[in-house]
Amino acid sequence: MLDWSEPSAAARRAPPSIVLNAAADQTGLGSIDRHGGRVSVDDKRMINCRADVNQLLPLKYKWAWEKYLAGCNNHWTPTEVSMQADIALWKSRDGLTEDERRAIKRNLGFFAASESLVANNIVLAIYRHLTNPECRQYLLRQSFEEAVHTHTFQYIVESLGLDEGELFNMYREVPSITDKAAWALKHTQHLDDPDFRTGTPEADQAFLRDLVAFYVIFEGMWFYTGFAQILSLGRRNKMVGIAEQYQYILRDESIHLNFGIDVINQIRIENPELWTGAFQEEIRAMIRAAAELEAAYGRDTMPRGFLGLNAALCESYMQFIANRRCAQLGLSRVFDETENPFPWMSEAMDLKKEKNFFETRVIEYQNGGALSWE
Ligand SMILES: [Fe+2]
Ligand SMILES: [Fe+2]
Repeated sequence: MLDWSEPSAAARRAPPSIVLNAAADQTGLGSIDRHGGRVSVDDKRMINCRADVNQLLPLKYKWAWEKYLAGCNNHWTPTEVSMQADIALWKSRDGLTEDERRAIKRNLGFFAASESLVANNIVLAIYRHLTNPECRQYLLRQSFEEAVHTHTFQYIVESLGLDEGELFNMYREVPSITDKAAWALKHTQHLDDPDFRTGTPEADQAFLRDLVAFYVIFEGMWFYTGFAQILSLGRRNKMVGIAEQYQYILRDESIHLNFGIDVINQIRIENPELWTGAFQEEIRAMIRAAAELEAAYGRDTMPRGFLGLNAALCESYMQFIANRRCAQLGLSRVFDETENPFPWMSEAMDLKKEKNFFETRVIEYQNGGALSWE
C-alpha cells in the first residue's frame, strides 16, 4: 500500500534534492548525477522541475496517480463489443436514412484521425515538458488508451466494410473537420520543435495553450458533441455496438479531460504569474472560437437534422459545455447561460447507473469526490 500520509520528520530532514548538472535534466535522459541528493516531495513541480524525473516516489500529486489507477481499472478493447446488429443495420436498405449515414460517417471520420492527433500531442509535445513523474505515468496510460481508441475505428471500418481511405482522410478532405484539426495543430506544432524549451513566461504560456487546445477543447469539447451524436442514435436502438464503444471511449475521455484540467490548474497554482488577465481572456477566446468551429461542423454534418438531433441543438450543447469548461478553469463563461439540451448525456456518464462495465473501485473513486465525470 502506498502511504499517503504527510512525510515524516525524518523524511523532511532528508537531504534536499539538488539540481542536476548544468541545465537541469528535464527529460530524464540526461547524464546521471552520481552525487545528487534524493528527491523530496517539496522539490517536485509540474513544469521546469529540477528534481530527478525518473523517481516516481515520493508522490506529490495524488490526483495524477489516482487517475492512472482509474485508467487501469477501465481497461477494455473494442473487439469485446459485438458488431452484429450494426452490420445488419448498416447493410439494410432502409434501416438508416441518408442523413443518418452521413452524420455517422463524418463522426467516425472526425474521431478516426483525431485519436492519432491527440496521441501524437501527448507523446511528441506534452510528455517532454511535463516534468513530473506521476503525471508522466498517467500520460503513458493515456497514450495506450488513445491507441485503443484508434483501434476502435479500425475495427468499425473493418466490421462495416467502410471505405478506409474515405474515413481516415476526412480530416484532410472535409473542410469542417480540417478546420478543427488545423486549429488544434497550430497550438502544438511549435512545441514539437526540438529547440522549444519551457522556462520563460512566453514558452510556459505556449505550453498552457497546448494543454487547453487538446485537453479542454479537443477532448473536452469537440469529442463531447461527437459522443452525443452517436449515443443519441444508440438510445434509439441504432448502431448499438458503436454506441457501446463510444460509452467506453467517453469514460476514458472524461478522465483525460479531468487530468488536463487538473494539470492546467496545478500549473496555475505553482506559476500564478502566467495566469494574467490578458492570458485568461486569450483562453476564453480560444474556447469561444472552438465552439464556433464545432457549430460549423454540426451544420455541415447534420444539414437537416434527424430524430431529435440537429445542428442547432448541438450548437447549444457546445455552448453549455464551453461554459462548463470555463468554470472548471476558474474563468467566467463565454456564452449566455444555457440549459443542457441533452440531459441524458449526464446519465450516459453517470457511472453509478452502469451495471456492467464500470468497476466498483472506479465508483468508489468517484464517490471520493476527487473526480467529476463531466
Ligand atoms: Fe481518445
Ligand atoms: Fe483522450
